[in-house]
Amino acid sequence: MKSILVTGATRGVGEALTLKFAQKGHVIYALARTRNQLNSLVEKCGADKVIPFEVDVSSKEQVEEATASIQREYGAPDVLINNAGVVENVSFAEQELEMIDRIVDVNLKGTLYVTRCIVPGMIARGSGRIINVSSVAGTRGIPGQAAYCASKFGMNGFADTLAQELLAKGILVTTICPGGIDTPLWDPEKNPYPGDKARIMKPEEIVDLIEYLIDQPEGTLYKKIVMFPTNEWH
Ligand SMILES: NC(=O)c1ccc[n+]([C@@H]2O[C@H](COP(=O)([O-])OP(=O)(O)OC[C@H]3O[C@@H](n4cnc5c(N)ncnc54)[C@H](OP(=O)(O)O)[C@@H]3O)[C@@H](O)[C@H]2O)c1
Repeated sequence: MKSILVTGATRGVGEALTLKFAQKGHVIYALARTRNQLNSLVEKCGADKVIPFEVDVSSKEQVEEATASIQREYGAPDVLINNAGVVENVSFAEQELEMIDRIVDVNLKGTLYVTRCIVPGMIARGSGRIINVSSVAGTRGIPGQAAYCASKFGMNGFADTLAQELLAKGILVTTICPGGIDTPLWDPEKNPYPGDKARIMKPEEIVDLIEYLIDQPEGTLYKKIVMFPTNEWH
């Protein structure tokens, strides 16, 4: 059984990851901002399986406090899954500066903060896996998603460097770049999915891939995986 830190655990991909991995017997350190949704995960999975932390990953202080508390109590997690993310679909000329900050702070800086706080413990132990949930928006430009693309390209550049720095230390870094997944991120009012919703990927497909990755022997590195429904192309 593994200990797995999941950011953005309360909805969409992160919630599906938490439910499946807890059900398999792993222990999940679940990070997100919404207390009642964290509590509901604990109720569903059991307090011995889901340990909740009310954290905004864009806050250095909150990230430092939560990751220190996890590592003091339980040691560095076996697996870190950087999944928390926000998006907005609006042309760049109309993008609010506040929203640019929010997207970069959560998606990019949040990933860097959490990873920076966890990596030394993994290095000291000589093992670990880091899985970044990036996006196809980290592989090409997508109109309406300039700040989101910038944050996800940033994540991918970060991950490429990190994977090289950590390889010799026994830590494997994988970045997944998915296309459309059926989650609450696609708000029908504010951010409707532009394709055929019937063909969009299910969060469980990302969960199955991550489950496969963390069960693989350590002799092979899966560096970057790009996946999307067949009604999209990236
Ligand atoms: N859905 C897609 O089509 C798609 C495609 C490609 C990539 N992705 C990526 O997949 C990841 C998961 O997305 P999703 O579709 O599952 O989105 P979602 O359903 O909107 O869930 C996002 C999660 O991130 C958390 N979160 C947001 N801001 C946060 C913050 N400041 N601090 C901590 N947690 C925060 C949310 O929890 P709280 O609100 O409780 O904090 C929620 O649990 C994201 O990185 C996204 O960019 C999604």
